Amino acid sequence: MSSIRDKKKTTVQTIINKKAKGSKITVLTAYDYFIASLLDQSGIDAILVGDSASNVIHGYNSTLPITMDTMIAHTSAVARGNKNALIIADMPFLSFQPSIETAITNAGRFLKEGNAEAVKIEGGIEMVPTVKRIIECGIPVMGHIGLTPQSIHRFGGPKVQGRQEKSRTYLKESALALEEAGCFSLVLELMEADIAAEITSSLKTAATIGIGAGVNCDGQVLVTNDMLGLREEGFKPKFLREYVNLTPFIKKAVENYIKDVIDGSFPNDDESY
Ligand code: KIV
Repeated sequence: MSSIRDKKKTTVQTIINKKAKGSKITVLTAYDYFIASLLDQSGIDAILVGDSASNVIHGYNSTLPITMDTMIAHTSAVARGNKNALIIADMPFLSFQPSIETAITNAGRFLKEGNAEAVKIEGGIEMVPTVKRIIECGIPVMGHIGLTPQSIHRFGGPKVQGRQEKSRTYLKESALALEEAGCFSLVLELMEADIAAEITSSLKTAATIGIGAGVNCDGQVLVTNDMLGLREEGFKPKFLREYVNLTPFIKKAVENYIKDVIDGSFPNDDESY
């Protein structure tokens, strides 16, 4: 009998095969060595080194400020902690939009310097020429449509997509065009569940990975810090399931440490040389 521990290396082909078989695909984000190793040991299929690092690690209020160099540092730390999961690096704002040459150079840096195995690019049908060229260079690409946080100012906030006919048409056409361009997978973020389901069944090879896009995607992704309760108080979108809230445990441990240092009970004899 096989178990999560016998898991083999996940490749982009594994993801495509899972979609074909109707097996759900599991993805979580990581930004550092230790969390990556825990996700990998738990049997996750893919680790996304998301540009959400800008928010949850660096404390910015959007994904816009994070740079290529910072993303590469996170990606190589994650890759060192990982054995079996597929590592996907998120291309940050303005690392791929200015020109196809810039996009290829930066996507390549994630593989050469970060040890990533694929990159993720935000945007719909307008990104097809860029996506095609990156894939022609041998770099697998995950697309990302719906609410794309790098365009948050254009959207005017985290608005659910696919509510108007124009938006539904754009999402459907973008998904098909990105699959045709060669994407092995697409993130579907914050959209009506029925349009995500329609897109998922219309795609033959590209696996859809939903976040706030309902249950009928080929797989799901969450920001790990959010599902572990390591997030700002008050940030609780409807789609977020918090599997554990580590915040009070960490606060309590730190309070106990402070108390023990102040009252002289740490370190004790067993903890001294
Ligand atoms: O940056 C990120 O973590 C993401 C996921 C939310 C899909 O893009």
